[in-house]
Amino acid sequence: MRRLILIFAALPLFHCRQAPAPPTGLVTDNAMVVSARKEASEIGVAIMQNGGNAFDAMVGTELALAVAYPFAGNLGGGGFMVYRMNNGDVGALDYREKAPLAAHKDMYLDSLGNVIPGMSTIGATSVGVPGTIAGIFEVHEKFGALPIEDIIARVIELVDQGVEVTEKQSRRLDAYWDQIVEVNGDQTLFYNKCMPGDTLRYPALANTLQRIAKNGRDEFYKGETAKILSRFIQEKGGFVTEEDLARYEAKWRQPIIFRYKDLKIISMSPPSSGGVTINQIFKMIEPYDIGQYHHNSAEAVQLFTEAARRAYADRNYYLGDPDFVDIPLDVLLSREYVKGRMESFSFNEATTSSDIERGTVEILESSETTHYSIVDAEGNAVSVTTTLNGAYGSKLYCDELGFFLNNEMDDFSAKTGVPNMFGLTGAEANSIAAEKRMLSSMTPTIVEKDDRLWLVVGTPGGSTIITAVAQTILNVYEFDMSMQEAVNAARFHHQWLPDNIRFEPEGFSEELKQQLKSKGYRINEGRNGFIGMVDAIRVLEDGRLEGGADKRGDDTAVGF
Ligand code: DON
Repeated sequence: MRRLILIFAALPLFHCRQAPAPPTGLVTDNAMVVSARKEASEIGVAIMQNGGNAFDAMVGTELALAVAYPFAGNLGGGGFMVYRMNNGDVGALDYREKAPLAAHKDMYLDSLGNVIPGMSTIGATSVGVPGTIAGIFEVHEKFGALPIEDIIARVIELVDQGVEVTEKQSRRLDAYWDQIVEVNGDQTLFYNKCMPGDTLRYPALANTLQRIAKNGRDEFYKGETAKILSRFIQEKGGFVTEEDLARYEAKWRQPIIFRYKDLKIISMSPPSSGGVTINQIFKMIEPYDIGQYHHNSAEAVQLFTEAARRAYADRNYYLGDPDFVDIPLDVLLSREYVKGRMESFSFNEATTSSDIERGTVEILESSETTHYSIVDAEGNAVSVTTTLNGAYGSKLYCDELGFFLNNEMDDFSAKTGVPNMFGLTGAEANSIAAEKRMLSSMTPTIVEKDDRLWLVVGTPGGSTIITAVAQTILNVYEFDMSMQEAVNAARFHHQWLPDNIRFEPEGFSEELKQQLKSKGYRINEGRNGFIGMVDAIRVLEDGRLEGGADKRGDDTAVGF
């Protein structure tokens, strides 16, 4: 009997995957949009009900978020889209902001070579050349089925109706009001009311959208809007000129595609670090069969943390705009290299980040972006993350045009080794140069299982985006959760530097933290807000769709 027990104890604990978890989120038969606001999801769905496809819905949802979720939805920012057609074709669009022509490596440094506080984070000096309008027109031109004027008309209707301020939104508006006034003065036309239940209206935005609907993409980059926008940014002391706008182009990119067990994961390529970094994380954890441990157990947290630590160290050193730097992707993503990186990992003791690379950093500010996932009735899938970078971006609001401008310039590394507002340190690869795109962490992702569409997933959260997306996929695949459970589950984060694990406030016991501390892990006790707001869709075995709308926000799944 004892021998039998010993044999069983010695058997490797291979995780036997259970039947897929029954859905707990909204389930629909045909199509779905999950986004940060009900109004935006509804517009996307209405477009699909009226004969539009997932790409038409993308255009409508993107613009509707600028209205209903000005915190991050935007005309003055940029983003990334990863898509998968129902025939299996995949691709990615980069409509990331870029540095203006006047930008240069030391533009945020004083005469002593120190980073000037605030210059890359608040006000006109932090604004990069916006990419969103170029992005939606590019998507529409390639894949759209409905006239773009009809899509924009729906958004203008929403602007005219106004958007009801939710409780959560009102709290955020309050939190950033002082900064908005500091940048724009107290006569700003944005935000005249902010109590829950009040209505936000932006008449100027309706006019801007009308001009764009009539004159097309060039209205924003070469027309009256371009003139108003560049004049406004320059009057406020920023760098974006008419020429910068005229030269902006969105770019189609090859997505990062890799296998994890029997999944095929398709994610965003540079200038986002998202796809490369989750690729490394998945490759690093694959040999350890993380599913044999409990979800968020000490072992699972350790394994994931050590992979993230190593992947972020590479991210910060090697990654930048591929049009400006050579990224050794072949090496970084090879199984051999990745395996070598994990050779120093042991369950007995934490690796320290200084053993991987050096540096000391502190995270300064938290802020927002937004993600939405779409599947249409034909099975085409779109995964988009879009951002102003900080909450309300640079806080600079153009009264005449009715939208906020990004502070994306802070995603560059202003000085090697000095952390940006997400505590990310960068190196030469992500230094500032004219017309270069700043490195991003946005990770819009699509996952195939058995060659069929399975998940569409992404999130905001700055540097935590990559780990939140990876954990959501693992939650469904390895820990047998439904889409909604996977999105709601408690998350944690490690990004190499600062060398500590950040846990969400709920879901991690003191005992777990003590256990990790005893192995040498440092825990970030000071910073324990939410990590990400994941909006995702799972295709169930019978072909129906399950939405995962993050309970952390006002996020809503809508479908039919
Ligand atoms: O591109 C990036 O990585 C950042 N600008 C994203 C910002 C973000 O997610 C803010 N949300 N919390």
